Parts: sequence; C-alpha cells; structure tokens
Amino acid sequence: MHFKRIVLVMAMHAEAKPIREQLKLQPVEKLHSKLPMDTYQGKVNDSEVFVVVNGIDPRFNIDSIGTTPAAVATLTAINQLQPDLIINAGTCGAFKSKGSEIAKVYWANNVMHHDRRISIPGMEEYGIGNYRCWTDDTLANKLKMDYATISTGNSLDMCDTDYAILEKQEVVVKEMEAGGIAYICELLDMPYLGIKSVTDLVDGGMLPADEFLINLKKSSEALKEKVLQVIDALSTEK
Ligand code: ADE
Repeated sequence: MHFKRIVLVMAMHAEAKPIREQLKLQPVEKLHSKLPMDTYQGKVNDSEVFVVVNGIDPRFNIDSIGTTPAAVATLTAINQLQPDLIINAGTCGAFKSKGSEIAKVYWANNVMHHDRRISIPGMEEYGIGNYRCWTDDTLANKLKMDYATISTGNSLDMCDTDYAILEKQEVVVKEMEAGGIAYICELLDMPYLGIKSVTDLVDGGMLPADEFLINLKKSSEALKEKVLQVIDALSTEK
C-alpha cells in the first residue's frame, strides 16, 4: 500500500523530535495563526510527510495533551494538508499483567474511550467509541508489532472505575489522544493508523508520572524506530 501524503499527529515535542530529526523534516508555516500546532514537512521515498505536533499551550506553556487539542489538530491538518493517511504516534501506559514492557511499540487495531461513561441506553456505545483503525497484517508481522486496543482517557492516572473498564475490555494500552484523532478520521473517512510506545506500566507499582518521565526518551526512541519502518514501507510506490 502506498500513501502519497502522510500526516503524523503527535502530542508532545519530546515524542516528535527523534522522528522529525531523523527524517530531516523542516518547520513550515503555522496551520492556523491562533492555534498552537507546529508543523514540519519533508519527503520520504515517494511521499510527502508532515509531522503536526499539537503545540505549546499559550496559557500554561506546556505541550497540549489530551483529546481536545488532538481532535482540533487532526481536523485542521486534514483540511489544510489533504493527507491520505493519518498516523497517530505517541507514548502510552500499558499493563504488565498483559505481557507489556517499557518501550514495547503497539499498532492499534481498535480505539476506545474508558472515561466517557454514559449509562443511558444507546449512549453507552457512543461513549466508548470503538473507532475504525487502518491495519496491515503483513506489515505488522514483518515489523514484529503486536496489535492492541488503545484506550483513551484525559487523565494520566486512573481511578477504580477506569481500571474496571480497562480490565473488562481486556485493554493493554492506555493513552490520552487516540480517541479524539480516530473519531475525526472515522467521520472524514480518513485511514487512522495508531502507533504507541510504552513509557510506564500502569500496574507495575510506580507512580505513572515518575515512570513516564524516566522512560520518555527511551520510549520515544523505540517509537521512532517503528514509525520510520512503517513510513518507509508505506511511502514507496510499488
Ligand atoms: N501516556 C503515557 N503513559 C500514560 C498513562 N499511564 N496514561 C495515559 N497516557 C499515558
């Protein structure tokens, strides 16, 4: 499969830096003068590749984490850059009890929300989402990447209810943006490819914030390796 214009949507500059440096992507004009996203562009094989980082929040001066900036960035990027594939690359927490480990990199085959609990008939499923993902079994096998359901919530930690839902749905990976991005992609018939690298083991006994900061660099490097392999495969005209 060849995609001609690939947009990566990423939440944090630290996650994006190894990828944009390795691909020698150059900064381009802001997609919107008032929105915080930062965009980088370059050519890989036969494709244009863009990295859109959600950007620095103007009030709090930190990366714009979470589903709202991710959805805004995705919609704006699709409108302005006219991609034929969105790759959502980032870091995540994961369950040790489900066989995960630090810097393991997953490919999403389902994206759901664990913090949108609406127990009214018909609305429950809407809250959970279960958005469509673009997968390629042959490529995932070749790159030795496991598929996983990615579950999104707007908190780094988790309460008991989140935990119960993640357990019930047998979720391995938990993060904070995929739901917003996959939602927009599904509405606009845009293929969504999610790639997530583990920074912390949510049932490993450490505070997620501490373990996240310790492993962010290692996990971002592992993310870079897999993302570059995926882009290399999808950017070549056969
Ligand atoms: N991103 C990295 N680690 C995470 C966690 N434990 N929960 C949500 N998002 C994360």
